[in-house]
Amino acid sequence: MQAPIAPSSDALFNAVVYTNGQPVAQPVTDAQWGALVSHARNLATAARQVGEAAPAADGEGRADWTRWAVEMAAASEAATRAAEARDVNALLESGGRLYATCAGCHKRFLPED
Ligand code: HEC
Repeated sequence: MQAPIAPSSDALFNAVVYTNGQPVAQPVTDAQWGALVSHARNLATAARQVGEAAPAADGEGRADWTRWAVEMAAASEAATRAAEARDVNALLESGGRLYATCAGCHKRFLPED
């Protein structure tokens, strides 16, 4: 898969961490928030490239692929807005939404281990 996807998504998934209801990690500095904006933008770009790389197969497979890629782009854009607004809750929420697109598309298209 495209190179920036894993590091950028890891950065977003790890940006806000709660343990037993207590925040143990969240962005604080300008540099941290700025990096998250960049990561989220990279993911939105990558999602559009993933969308264009839909499998040649037509019909249902292609439609499912496009649906997941579009949702990945939308979640990345939500994460971009959250990071721009420095909104920790929105960042957490968009991260969960983003993760669901990775998992959903992989479940549909990656062979079972
Ligand atoms: C539209 C479908 C789709 C979406 C959305 C998607 N992936 Fe994937 N991903 C794939 C497919 C298909 C492969 C296997 C083929 C390949 O490596 O190009 C893959 C492979 C990978 C791999 C390589 C390791 C492996 O198991 O083969 C990583 C890492 C990965 N994806 C991360 C992510 C992350 C993180 C997200 C969400 C931010 C994501 N992907 C979203 C379809 C998708």
